[in-house]
Amino acid sequence: MNYDQKEILKLKKDKNAIILAHNYQPAEIQEVADFLGDSLELCIKASQIENADLVVFCGVDFMAETAAILNPSKKILIPDPQAECPMAHMLPAEEVRKFKEMYPQAAVVLYVNTLAEAKAEADILCTSANAVQVVESLEEDQVLFGPDMNLAGYVQKHTDKEVIPIPEVGYCYVHKMFNQEDVTFSRKNYLDAEILVHPECDIEVQELADQVLSTGGMMRHVAESSKKNFLIGTEVDMVTRLRRENPDKLIYPLLDKAICEDMKLHTLKKVKESLIEEKFLLKVPEEIADQARSAVERMLEVSQ
Ligand code: 13P
Ligand code: SF4
Repeated sequence: MNYDQKEILKLKKDKNAIILAHNYQPAEIQEVADFLGDSLELCIKASQIENADLVVFCGVDFMAETAAILNPSKKILIPDPQAECPMAHMLPAEEVRKFKEMYPQAAVVLYVNTLAEAKAEADILCTSANAVQVVESLEEDQVLFGPDMNLAGYVQKHTDKEVIPIPEVGYCYVHKMFNQEDVTFSRKNYLDAEILVHPECDIEVQELADQVLSTGGMMRHVAESSKKNFLIGTEVDMVTRLRRENPDKLIYPLLDKAICEDMKLHTLKKVKESLIEEKFLLKVPEEIADQARSAVERMLEVSQ
């Protein structure tokens, strides 16, 4: 541990704080986190916080907002408030309302990668770990699903219900970087490696991969697999955690440049300042949080 990391551990104790971090955080932040996970695991963890006075969330805006929705009386801090997921901004609440008017009979399933105002319009949320399960849990045969069109396509392949992507084109700039050649090239050059990709990758990329998994799904799959070699088609720091927890396996990124710049805005210095100055406080207006909470809780009921 370096000096800043030791300081952070001490501050956590003094302030009765915990750090929740997403799997895409850099190694030095992963090492000081109390809990590391995918979006669903982080939601579940956020719904179970009891004793901490402060929660420092090292992830992007929608993740910290979801934690705030679930914990209206707790202080949820984000070390850099600029850490925004561009995909979450592609489906404003107004757009959701517009589609609801067009398809009044459809259920509204929103990816957790949405802002609180949009979540307030949803019947239920989902993550990449439980999207099919969530859609299958509904009575309705028609589902409005957004904002990720690739996850919508993945769900459509696994359900008989009609999945309507909203907006038509919603995507993640990091997972858009992967193309079919990345998979075919790696397939030829790393003959015995298993290729895992995230469902935010294009459908053509998903079709060429061995497994399509959430980041938590990738953790479980690599740990349980008898295979030794893996190529990981998602944000590069997923490989950081996979390597640390599976030292006997050979794990490489499918694409070195697949970096989520937004996730990398958090640094040890900012985490330390966040703990000392109790900033930046993430506040979701009460009325919106109250409206959005039922969609989050309904997802948790389906998933636990
Ligand atoms: P996971 O829920 O699989 O961790 O994905 C979150 C995300 O933002 C993917 O880009
Ligand atoms: Fe958003 Fe993509 Fe970054 Fe995930 S990897 S937080 S979807 S921009």
